[in-house]
Amino acid sequence: MAGLVPLGASVIDVGTDHAMVPVWLVQSGRARRALASDIRPGPLKSAAALVKRTGTGDRVRLLQTDGLTGIGPEDGDTVILAGMGGETMISILAAASWTGAGTLLILEPQSKRGDLRRWLIGNGFSIRTEKLVEDAGRIYPILTAAGGPSPAYSEAELHLGRLAQIGGDPLFLKYLEDARARTAKAAPYDGEAAALLADYDDIKRRFCHADCT
Ligand SMILES: C[S@@+](CC[C@H](N)C(=O)[O-])C[C@H]1O[C@@H](n2cnc3c(N)ncnc32)[C@H](O)[C@@H]1O
Repeated sequence: MAGLVPLGASVIDVGTDHAMVPVWLVQSGRARRALASDIRPGPLKSAAALVKRTGTGDRVRLLQTDGLTGIGPEDGDTVILAGMGGETMISILAAASWTGAGTLLILEPQSKRGDLRRWLIGNGFSIRTEKLVEDAGRIYPILTAAGGPSPAYSEAELHLGRLAQIGGDPLFLKYLEDARARTAKAAPYDGEAAALLADYDDIKRRFCHADCT
């Protein structure tokens, strides 16, 4: 995540929880300042303790608010939304249209990734990069996006990410297997699952090399 933040950025970390990301970003010198926000007072109390302990109060400002309410482009050039569901990210971004004009988004959705990609490209954003990370045996995509025209996505790419961006990732085949298993589980209740499973199998054949079973 940190490597995706441009050097010298001013960062808005929405749903900051303990503020570990913004504190690390300013301590490491990657970000020059950060606004760390959360909807709940409990996380902000922990965030305040970390900011105090690390002496970063001159560079990390804390704010209790829902999403980007009361926050604008003057507060930062890079918005991080991490560790929340894709549907929450959509509602936060839909209520802050200024993010479509010159803001870099760094998004780590825990669920509803297809809905998030569909919303981004349907609402004037272009997904610039996708990277996979593994945590406790699970694989998560991290997207960067900004306002701008988007190439077309197939249905499978809406769920997985654009193959041109993500197909070469060392974790891609494991990620594809996980996505396939989730879709297969939902198949009895999802009329579109069969077509998606066929697409996933086709993609596996294209990206699989000798080491694939
Ligand atoms: C699982 S934590 C993620 C913490 C951190 N961003 C990370 O990735 O490690 C999710 C945080 O998002 C906050 N949150 C959920 N909905 C929010 C909203 N609409 N606006 C701001 N914060 C929100 C929660 O209070 C919680 O602290």
